[in-house]
Amino acid sequence: MRIFFTGGSGKAGKHAIPYLLEQGHQVTNADLVPLHHPGVNNIELDLADAGQVFNALHAYASFDELEPGTGVPKYDAIVHFAAVPRILLKTDNETYRINVLSTYNVLDAAAKLGIRKVIFASSETTYGICFHDGEVQPDYVPVDEDHPTVPQDSYAMSKVVNEVTGRSFQARTGFDIYALRINNVIEPHEYAQNFPDYIKDPALRRRNIFAYIDARDLGHMVDCCLKTDGLGYQVFNVSNDDASVGIDTDEIMSRFYKGVPMHGKMGKTETFYSNAKAKKMVGFKPKHSWRDVLK
Ligand SMILES: NC(=O)c1ccc[n+]([C@@H]2O[C@H](COP(=O)([O-])OP(=O)(O)OC[C@H]3O[C@@H](n4cnc5c(N)ncnc54)[C@H](O)[C@@H]3O)[C@@H](O)[C@H]2O)c1
Repeated sequence: MRIFFTGGSGKAGKHAIPYLLEQGHQVTNADLVPLHHPGVNNIELDLADAGQVFNALHAYASFDELEPGTGVPKYDAIVHFAAVPRILLKTDNETYRINVLSTYNVLDAAAKLGIRKVIFASSETTYGICFHDGEVQPDYVPVDEDHPTVPQDSYAMSKVVNEVTGRSFQARTGFDIYALRINNVIEPHEYAQNFPDYIKDPALRRRNIFAYIDARDLGHMVDCCLKTDGLGYQVFNVSNDDASVGIDTDEIMSRFYKGVPMHGKMGKTETFYSNAKAKKMVGFKPKHSWRDVLK
């Protein structure tokens, strides 16, 4: 597929794009800064500017595309990862403005240009736990896509709004628009670097509902979504199969989630951030685990 990937120069994109290239996709990275990786075409733009978004989506991606003499090819899909990725990087209102406006621009352009699939990055923070003022427990575990999304911070608010925008554009167009509620993204080198601390002090992972997503498995999830058509508007939690801490399910429950209802029976090391829907609907099969690195 010919894919317009936004924010591909960032933490998640720089692993997801190589994975998509390996699957045979052609990728244009649309970002404020380029990604230096063989085989990637880059276009530098500000997605908060609608003119630049529409222009780039209707442009040649490389010199090679001039050769056939058949005009500008159409994109088959957009993967929209660009964002201010958390609070405390920019002012709250600027985070909200950039995230909401860039997502509106991308979805509006997809609708008007007839690009029938958009996969965009939402976030675990929509559940309101990550950036909550003080400690808060989930309503139930494992946290699945039906859990309420009532966050307090501007970043997570922008993601909730983006999900509403995605749902409305899907209703207007009938296209496939999938929102990925991505958990904390972990790059391969971070297992050795950070996980020993998480093993020592599991409370460090409380705000992430004790979960994580390997950046390469996130690339695989994007590919699963590219390959699965006809689902309309969908929201998917994206996480690895196990928790990011060394203690088991019973200990997490007794130390952190006393009194929190458990829906169904959970395995000994099972993630508290359910990825069951992604597995069932798009065939997501995460391969990586911190346990393979820190034996
Ligand atoms: N990193 C995580 O743990 C995590 C967790 C959940 C969700 N997410 C979401 O996943 C996506 C990717 O996150 P990341 O960690 O790779 O973030 P990142 O900051 O590393 O990368 C984001 C990229 O978007 C680009 N960008 C920002 N504003 C832009 C604009 N106006 N126009 C064009 N490009 C712009 C940046 O230059 C950057 O390369 C984001 O939407 C983020 O909110 C990330």
